[in-house]
Formats: sequence, C-alpha cells, structure tokens
Amino acid sequence: MLLTITRASELTKHIQNLKLQGLKVGFIPTMGALHEGHLKLIKTAKRENDVTVVSIFVNPTQFNDKKDLEKYPRTLAQDQQQLAAVGTDILFAPEVEDIYPSGTEVGADIYLGGLDAVMEGTHRPGHFNGVAQVVKRLLDIVQPDQLYMGQKDFQQFTIINYMLKSLQIPVKLRICPIVREKNGLAMSSRNVRLSAEAREQAKVIFNTLKSVKQKSKTMAPEQLTAYAMKRLNKPPFTPEYFDIVDGDTLNPVVNMDQHSYVVACTAVWVEGVRLIDNMILKG
Ligand code: PAF
Repeated sequence: MLLTITRASELTKHIQNLKLQGLKVGFIPTMGALHEGHLKLIKTAKRENDVTVVSIFVNPTQFNDKKDLEKYPRTLAQDQQQLAAVGTDILFAPEVEDIYPSGTEVGADIYLGGLDAVMEGTHRPGHFNGVAQVVKRLLDIVQPDQLYMGQKDFQQFTIINYMLKSLQIPVKLRICPIVREKNGLAMSSRNVRLSAEAREQAKVIFNTLKSVKQKSKTMAPEQLTAYAMKRLNKPPFTPEYFDIVDGDTLNPVVNMDQHSYVVACTAVWVEGVRLIDNMILKG
C-alpha cells in the first residue's frame, strides 16, 4: 500500500527506522504529472532496493519563468493512483514551506563546476542552482542509498553527479534510458500541453537526433549542428540550441576522435512549450 507523507521530519524518522532494519532505500525525485518515463525509474528502483520512495514537489526555485511554473501540470490524485499501481512504497509530497523553511528567496549557491553555464544553463539562468538546491534538500530528508534520474535531463544528471561527488554525499546515482512515445518523442510532463498535431510532428526531434548519430561517422560536429538546426527550424518548431558536447565535461566537441563520450543535446520550442532531448553519439 502506498504511504503518503507530507512532513519532512516524519519522513526522515520513518526512513531511519527502515534503515535500522537493514533495508535499502531507492529514491526518485519528481515534480509529478507522472508518465511512463517516471514509472520506468520507479520499476528499476523497486528491483534494486527494498523500499522505494518517490517525491512530488514542483520546485519553485528552478523555474526562471513564472508562467512556466504556473502552467506546470499538477495531477496529484492521478499520480498517487499510478504510484500505487506500480507498487511504490512511500510518496513524499511536501509543501513549499517544509522544503524551504526560510523562504525560497534564500539562495543556497552550490558550485556546479561550470556545468551549469552551458546549454540549458545559458537559456534558463539559475535553473540548475534551483535543481541542485532542492535535490540536496531532498537527499538530506530521505537519505537514500540509491538515487534514480532519467537520461532525458542529461545535463541535470551530469550536474547532480558532480554535486554528489564534490559534496561527498554518500548516495549511488543511477541513470535510466529515455522512454519515448510511439513516434519517438521523449516522454515529458510538458507533452500534455501540446496539440495532438504538434505532438505527432514532434517526432522530428528524435528523427533529427538519429540522423545526426548516423552522420556523425562522416561529418564534423560543427556541420552536424548546422544540419540539425536547419532541420529543426521548420514551423511550428523553433530550435533553441543543438549542441554536441563531451558527456563528462559538457564542453563543445570540435573533433569527435578526441573524445570517448559524446552526446548531442537539444531544446526546441513548439506551441509555447520547450522540449528537450538528447542522444549519446559515442561512448
Ligand atoms: O527532473 C525533475 O523533475 C526535477 O528537476 C527534479 C530532479 C525533481 C528536481 O526538482
């Protein structure tokens, strides 16, 4: 049965008891509006741990655009049903005051090694600091053994990995592959805001990434980026960036032969919704 806890102190006490019994805890932080991608993370965590904890918290500090925060889908009752159906043990659904007792304006700058200064970081100022801040706070509350995140937010994953290492937080980070809709569009809570037509047409993002991967054997990153930007720049789509980066440092790749791990990452606007996606080209 799904146990829903809303108070941080109650959850910490509950988990400490479970850990005293020697149980291994897996944790999936989310902002709700759950889809197959989240459920895949939960199912993986269930296989690899004794207790699975999911948090649902729409974190205000990671939204640089107030309208995006307002429009973010909130579907708690439906999420609870989905969580119960896949056998989640605990849902943590806190209020803003419990996560930020001193208010959301109180900054908690965490050094992210410059990984936050590229791609998403240049278009969403402060976003990753908000993400790092909330993930750190959630980890303090939950104290899991393993943390599960999706490859769809590749930069987020890389940044959290950096934070865990630099702050020496004793949790094992696990990455799970992108889950896609039938037409290839990466699953996202924001997809529900698209018209049926745009949602179908959005397959162009996955198709472009696949084509870039194929062409990466013979074309240089600079040419690949130009090719992808052109292909994605067709109404109703407007690409914000298409970057080919080193998978560890997130620095731009000039010559594929000089890197062992290369990822293509993109953000594309359609109908006022910003979609992100990526594909590992090498490594
Ligand atoms: O990926 C998300 O849903 C959010 O950025 C996260 C990790 C739950 C932090 O709010």
